[in-house]
Amino acid sequence: MSDKKFYVTTPIYYVNDKPHIGHAYTTILADVLARYHKEDGQETFFLTGLDEHGQKVQQAAEKRGMAPQEHCDDLAPRFIQLWKKLNIENSDFIRTTEPRHKEVVQKILQQVYDNGDIYSAEYEGWYSVSEERFITSTEKDSGEFRDIKQLKEKNYFFRMGKYQQKLIDHINDNPDFICPESRKNEILGFLRQPLGDLCVSRPKDRLNWGIELTFDKDYVTYVWFDALINYISAIGYLSDDAKFKKWWPHSLHLIGKDILTTHSVYWTTMLFSLGLPLPKKIFAHGWWLIGESKMSKSLGNVVSPLDLVDEYGVDAVRYYLMSQMVLGQDCSFTFESFITRFNNDLANDFGNLLNRVSGLIRKNFDGVVPACGQLSDADKEIVDLTGQTEKEIACAVDKLEIHTAVASTLRLVSMANKYLEHQAPWKVAKEDLKRAGTILYVATEALRIATLHLVPIMPSKTKVVLDVLRAVGSDTKWGGLRSGSVLEAHDALFPRLELSKE
Ligand code: MSP
Repeated sequence: MSDKKFYVTTPIYYVNDKPHIGHAYTTILADVLARYHKEDGQETFFLTGLDEHGQKVQQAAEKRGMAPQEHCDDLAPRFIQLWKKLNIENSDFIRTTEPRHKEVVQKILQQVYDNGDIYSAEYEGWYSVSEERFITSTEKDSGEFRDIKQLKEKNYFFRMGKYQQKLIDHINDNPDFICPESRKNEILGFLRQPLGDLCVSRPKDRLNWGIELTFDKDYVTYVWFDALINYISAIGYLSDDAKFKKWWPHSLHLIGKDILTTHSVYWTTMLFSLGLPLPKKIFAHGWWLIGESKMSKSLGNVVSPLDLVDEYGVDAVRYYLMSQMVLGQDCSFTFESFITRFNNDLANDFGNLLNRVSGLIRKNFDGVVPACGQLSDADKEIVDLTGQTEKEIACAVDKLEIHTAVASTLRLVSMANKYLEHQAPWKVAKEDLKRAGTILYVATEALRIATLHLVPIMPSKTKVVLDVLRAVGSDTKWGGLRSGSVLEAHDALFPRLELSKE
């Protein structure tokens, strides 16, 4: 086992939200990355969870006539069940209403207060009820905020501005800290203006569904100050030192581009105040657009991952999301592109390769994997391609270019199909059965290796293929396929889909 460690997080999702394709995407991405790193022999920790405090939760609970905790407990299983259905293997699932989290948040608030980084002040300004925060007058004039009112109240503020230069220096000294580059520049641009302090309290008479401030019982803390701490409360900060030291700061925070500032500015300055190192990387991905427009409840174009999975299977959905989106860029979800990818890559290439080799081995070798004789130049090209593919995947995963890792693997599959067409073992078998056996061994071994590379993306269907091939272990070195094993019978892996007119 390598001594490298990999800690990956998703945002913790608002418990009120109905899980949609955006939530599913980040969670599948984290799962895929954790699985690739595990395959590489690394120890991994994959954290996801739910953000359960704040005004919207309080209001939604009131509407349902429920206590907020009861409301959260009722809604949380929707996410948990979805992750199960999507084959997500997270190491932990944190809910911000759990005592283990609340205790750490309170200790942190006290620590930051004691070190002088939280102070109280009377503040008068514009407050956006929908965003649950004070906004600047420029923000007010931008027209992007709803439910704005003038508010004057005593609150507690975190000295965020104090760490502005330290943060700029960190970003400049660690060019890969905020990715992609365009997002890093966005944050550096934001930091060109003086950085204000952050209001981290809410008076209980306005909002009581939150974590109480230890130094003032009339207030709860701001939902983001609470939520961001999940990344360290879950791994033992102030509760399990050994565990915490093991995972922090080897962390990769995967987020959507809309929550870049909270992660790159609020979270980092909070960590500075605690004297903790910053996470290794913050990666902001783009949006899934529905056709050309943003997904939104009011447009009624929210794609439910559950519906897709029920219709097309979990692996096809995971495959589509991972192969279609270039990490960092927006990507348009359309049924046409889903069906095209399914048919081209999964039915015509991957599924077809399995069908061909297993059919030919059954016909010519009674289903027994033939021996591999001397390799021709064409055979060696396939062998070389497997080595090259492996290197490309390692490099792509390292750069978080999952779509490239998938494309490299699919190129191997497609080349194995072409190789079969050129070598035509069905013809060769009539004159030289031994040579036909070698060709089929080469194509089947290429399939075994490609399948192993696809395990993180499609854990279920790849298991079917590996079982058919009687493959043991996960070694992707050439020659792992065992001649003499009897192939298992199987159904078509991904039957072609027809796009109905509607
Ligand atoms: N609770 C906060 C996160 C706190 S993390 C300490 C939150 N929750 S959320 O449920 O609203 O959103 C979670 C994630 O979903 C964000 O990363 C957001 O970018 C992502 N997405 C929401 N819609 C999306 C798309 N249409 N496409 C891709 N991801 C999108 O924010």
